[in-house]
Amino acid sequence: MSRRIAIRGDLLDLLDDPGFDVVDSPEVRFDADHWLLVEDGRIAGRQAHAPDPSWTRLDHSGRLVMPGFIDTHVHSPQLDVIASYGTELLDWLNTYTFPAESRFSDPAHATRIAGAFLDLLLAHGTTTAVAYCSSHPASVDAYFEAAEARGLRMIGGKVMMDRNAPPGLLDTATSGYDESKALIGRWHGRDRLAYAITPRFAATSTPAQLEAAGALWRETPGAYLHSHVAENVAEVEWISALYPSHARYLDVYAQFGLLGRRALYAHGIHLDDADFQLLHESQTAIAHCPTSNNFLGSGLFSMHRARDPRRPVHVALATDLGGGTTFSMLRTMQAASEVAQLGGHPLSPSSAWWLATRGAAEALDLGERIGAVEPGRDADLVVIDLRSTPLIDFRMQYIRGIEEALAVQFALGDDRAIRATYIAGHLAWDRDAAH
Ligand code: GUN
Ligand code: ZN
Repeated sequence: MSRRIAIRGDLLDLLDDPGFDVVDSPEVRFDADHWLLVEDGRIAGRQAHAPDPSWTRLDHSGRLVMPGFIDTHVHSPQLDVIASYGTELLDWLNTYTFPAESRFSDPAHATRIAGAFLDLLLAHGTTTAVAYCSSHPASVDAYFEAAEARGLRMIGGKVMMDRNAPPGLLDTATSGYDESKALIGRWHGRDRLAYAITPRFAATSTPAQLEAAGALWRETPGAYLHSHVAENVAEVEWISALYPSHARYLDVYAQFGLLGRRALYAHGIHLDDADFQLLHESQTAIAHCPTSNNFLGSGLFSMHRARDPRRPVHVALATDLGGGTTFSMLRTMQAASEVAQLGGHPLSPSSAWWLATRGAAEALDLGERIGAVEPGRDADLVVIDLRSTPLIDFRMQYIRGIEEALAVQFALGDDRAIRATYIAGHLAWDRDAAH
């Protein structure tokens, strides 16, 4: 017997990138009071009328039923140091982050944090994430075991780091390659899991390690390449000192063959037009991490420049927790919106929503699988309570359209808005049953 459920609610997704300054975008698909049919973990259809009684009915009337959020860059081992007040990136890494990641030498700690991390993602309506684990292979086993137990579509990998970090966190060019290769053998392509080859950033990898990472990526069909680039001015200067023959930071990664489809770089704040041209040509994606960039004072990413229609770059939103201060993609959309305002190019509400859902799926080369409420896609869904606080409830009385509602939801909302999360059609988070 197949498992058939029908969810009633206001169906929302994006048909395409709404672009920048759009209001009332035709790309927003909003079907009030519809039924979403889910069969065996996949979306089977969407319709205005109730299905026949063979479908188990779930009533989310008056709520948004939409694709789960996608967090394209997050660090699972930094959960226990989120919101550690620091100065800037490099100091914050040494003071909080490396000690936190060192604790992952204990597999029991890794297991405990991995479970808490994934449960918190689900409670925030995030159904797919691309995570850094620590440099300990056991941290990756813990992460993927926990993801598999929850039936999630998750991406992640072991940090490769062979210099400029505490000795207990360092691998070598050879051991980093070998350990990553073994993890790929165990996890990549199993269920809905995919591996990301994860050199931390060029400052903590020798040229030999970047070379090995590139070789491993070329050998592994469907794998991701995940790193950081141009986050902080001192970091950029450090890279120039470490790689004096390279004119620009991004060139270092280019030289080692680390750009391309399924390559994903966090931040990309301090890049120039030639860099964006290279990202465009290579189809490399950027994960924009606004709460982290604000918390660490890293700078203002220019979404407007990155998405210049003459050479658009794949961009998606990300929390970058624990540099980022929230799991919530609603809070992240609001931060992205504020950063865009400060840069003089406002981001439309539908565009912010795109960057956290379907745009993120496309940036990850998963546009055929997730990010839309369409037949054939995975039924990884989030249900948004549009009246989750007294203020939002009040403000919603004066709403004139769906895009205004979306703007209010992320300007004022947080995890209290996440009424339910479904993974492959199974209830994975129920806000009102949780306490
Ligand atoms: N650059 C290198 N490592 C890190 C990290 O853990 N967090 C952030 N935000 N940037 C990094
Ligand atoms: Zn990061």
